[in-house]
Amino acid sequence: MRTDVEYLEFMWPMRHFLLTCGDIERKSNIIAVSFCMPVSKEPPLIACAIGRGTYSCKLIEDTEEFVVNVPPKELKSKIYYCGFHSGYQVDKFKETGLTPQPARKVKAPTIEECVAYMECKVRQEIETGEKNLFIGEVIEAYADEALVKGEKNIEYAKGDFPKKIYATRFKIP
Ligand SMILES: Cc1cc2nc3c(=O)[nH]c(=O)nc-3n(C[C@H](O)[C@H](O)[C@H](O)COP(=O)(O)O)c2cc1C
Repeated sequence: MRTDVEYLEFMWPMRHFLLTCGDIERKSNIIAVSFCMPVSKEPPLIACAIGRGTYSCKLIEDTEEFVVNVPPKELKSKIYYCGFHSGYQVDKFKETGLTPQPARKVKAPTIEECVAYMECKVRQEIETGEKNLFIGEVIEAYADEALVKGEKNIEYAKGDFPKKIYATRFKIP
């Protein structure tokens, strides 16, 4: 027996990322993203689907840059905060206590508490449903040295189908 499902349900669990955008000197923002994947090795390209009405979509369109920050599992409540609040209303760096750091080549900040970073320049923007797909070329990629050398192990943040997330109330510890 088979039954109809919402197609997305069986694509989860997905990894969670924190995408940063904007300009560290002026206004920057953090958005939680799971619709984010590599789409080419040569050149190195990452695709992120970003809701068209979000503050992040506007900032990425304005600057044509973003950073994919890789968060460890411990940041999960902060990831959810960034996924449930808009930079139009709040300063997510201030509210979560996450620390902005200058990136190497782009104006968007990186997040100190994350463990790996992909700085991207937008090469293409494609309208898809209610989101816009940003194809970013990875111009810098770096990570916590201890992690790269295998001296440290971490668990990455990932999570369930959003309806389970949306059903839970979360607080920043
Ligand atoms: C775990 C998680 C994953 C998410 N993944 C995405 C995603 O891939 N793309 C997207 O547009 N929104 C995603 N969201 C929702 C956005 O993070 C949310 O709309 C956010 O409030 C937008 O913030 P902004 O207006 O500051 O850009 C996700 C939310 C959560 C909690």
